[in-house]
Amino acid sequence: MKRMDHALRLALLLMLLALVYPSSSAIDFEHCKSSVKQWASSSLHSDTKDGHILKDLLFFLHVPRTGGRTYFHCFLKKLYSSALECPRSYDKLRFDPGKPDCRLLVTHDDYSMMSKLPREKTSVVTILRNPIERVFSAYEFSIEVAARFLVHPNLTSVIKMSGRLRSKNGGISTLEIWPWKYLVPWMREDLFSRRDARKRRGPPYFYGNDSYNMEEIVMPLHEYIHHPVALDLVHNGATFQVQTFMNKMKFASQVAGLTNNSNIKGAHELRQCVITYQILGKYVLEVAKKRLDDMLYVGITEDHRESATMFANVVGAQVISQLMATTVNDSTSEQGPSFSDSSTDTIHDQDNSSSTVEAKSENMTVGKLMDTYETCISSLRSSQSQRRTASLKRISPANFTKEARQHVPDTLLKEIISLNSLDIELYKYAKEIFQKQHQIMEQKLLDSNQVKPAKWNMMLSSIDSAWTVFYIFVFVFLLFFICFYVSAKRRISKLKV
Ligand SMILES: *[C@@H]1O[C@H](CO)[C@@H](O)[C@H](O)[C@H]1NC(C)=O
Ligand SMILES: *[C@@H]1O[C@H](CO)[C@@H](O)[C@H](O)[C@H]1NC(C)=O
Ligand SMILES: *[C@@H]1O[C@H](CO)[C@@H](O)[C@H](O)[C@H]1NC(C)=O
Ligand SMILES: *[C@@H]1O[C@H](CO)[C@@H](O)[C@H](O)[C@H]1NC(C)=O
Ligand SMILES: *[C@@H]1O[C@H](CO)[C@@H](O)[C@H](O)[C@H]1NC(C)=O
Ligand SMILES: *[C@@H]1O[C@H](CO)[C@@H](O)[C@H](O)[C@H]1NC(C)=O
Ligand SMILES: *[C@@H]1O[C@H](CO)[C@@H](O)[C@H](O)[C@H]1NC(C)=O
Repeated sequence: MKRMDHALRLALLLMLLALVYPSSSAIDFEHCKSSVKQWASSSLHSDTKDGHILKDLLFFLHVPRTGGRTYFHCFLKKLYSSALECPRSYDKLRFDPGKPDCRLLVTHDDYSMMSKLPREKTSVVTILRNPIERVFSAYEFSIEVAARFLVHPNLTSVIKMSGRLRSKNGGISTLEIWPWKYLVPWMREDLFSRRDARKRRGPPYFYGNDSYNMEEIVMPLHEYIHHPVALDLVHNGATFQVQTFMNKMKFASQVAGLTNNSNIKGAHELRQCVITYQILGKYVLEVAKKRLDDMLYVGITEDHRESATMFANVVGAQVISQLMATTVNDSTSEQGPSFSDSSTDTIHDQDNSSSTVEAKSENMTVGKLMDTYETCISSLRSSQSQRRTASLKRISPANFTKEARQHVPDTLLKEIISLNSLDIELYKYAKEIFQKQHQIMEQKLLDSNQVKPAKWNMMLSSIDSAWTVFYIFVFVFLLFFICFYVSAKRRISKLKV
């Protein structure tokens, strides 16, 4: 009944659009093209020199669902004291320049944040992830967080309770962080309405066996990716399908600074232009690529180990030496309770494990940093997975497992790919940059002999281990040869005697 209703409304809307759009095209192509081109060329001009040297301020551009949170908690928090952190990094209120001496800024804001920062004094780092994986992760995470509210009997009671909670602990929850502040309430409402519908209808229930398409319980993935989160935005853009939340989450637009959350003037219009005329997307991509080029570090979620090692060696090492040079006077630190909980990615985040090991940069080395990271990440992971399991229990029998993922139809994956075409291009490019950075780092490590043997295990990429095997082989061969030679000689000399 409800679905029919939706479908009908949707169809009507599409028809209306088709009728209205050609005549009222509020944004015309030529205008769009020239403004997008202008923006792109001005963005490409701003040249930053020495992109690979850490500047005064480190800006971590956290693309949602790329695993940036572990970098924040297990690397950056181990290096920077709270006092050095820019106020309320993840806050909905955005960056507050009221603390001019801060050294670390971590936000879900997009690149346009740079317009508020001293560009020549800021280094940017980011992590990118395979766009398909990120879409799955965003879907699962918004449901996971929303499902925690199902303990409540109804939505009214949720809203009452969360209001009370917020005023009590004053921390920042997922619900205040873009884009979750839109996605979670939307999913939450959806979960409650599906549960209410089930209750009204009563048993027997037929859920099916596909967790990504279990409409009795959660919004199916295919519906989610095509859902216009805000119908009102549709009026401005013609291409109905790209005007979903995905567009707002596209990391190409985040890196380019053109998200729905952008700080620059005119960003909204530019976004609409690109959405309306997808051909203009190539300009956004150019800008995003250029920005990645200029970054201090680009990590890849999938290459987790190597990314972490590189982060420690490239960013960590520089942060350590920078802070050592300046932490002569540390009088201002050791407070800032208001910041301590401000950067969490999820609600109810106690962050118990990582705050106990309050390692500061004084005695820090890259090796120690890596060890701290390993310990930190394993406890973080286990608490995350516990929370996930507990939360997904509430929507059982739906369960987002690797096994269930295998059954997602190809057509759906193709749709996700086409909705994320810019991101897929950008991801490819990021992987190239990553490879280059990786080679440079290895070269540097080879050049300087400061690496301790134990750390080498970490550094060995497949190529290096191939070389190691080769050396060992040659060594053994030589040894064998010498032994053979010596014994042969002995035999010969024995014969002579
Ligand atoms: C929601 O739940 C609360 C608490 O159980 C109850 O008092 C209230 O009547 C419910 N509201 C609705 C609309 O069902
Ligand atoms: C669901 O069941 C059908 C038939 O019973 C089977 O073909 C299909 O592979 C199952 N799907 C999953 C996700 O297990
Ligand atoms: C961003 O998206 C949300 C949800 O779709 C919408 O409510 C909000 O108005 C948008 N903001 C801008 C500036 O477009
Ligand atoms: C450190 O603090 C002392 C006194 O508190 C001051 O004399 C000195 O100039 C400070 N050094 C730096 C580098 O700020
Ligand atoms: C903190 O960690 C300890 C041990 O790991 C655990 O016993 C305790 O319950 C945790 N506290 C919170 C608030 O999670
Ligand atoms: C740093 O090293 C010194 C001397 O080795 C030691 O006294 C101090 O406690 C260490 N500080 C930290 C934070 O580990
Ligand atoms: C979901 O799957 C995970 C991993 O297979 C499992 O540990 C968990 O118990 C499952 N949850 C439910 C509610 O079946």
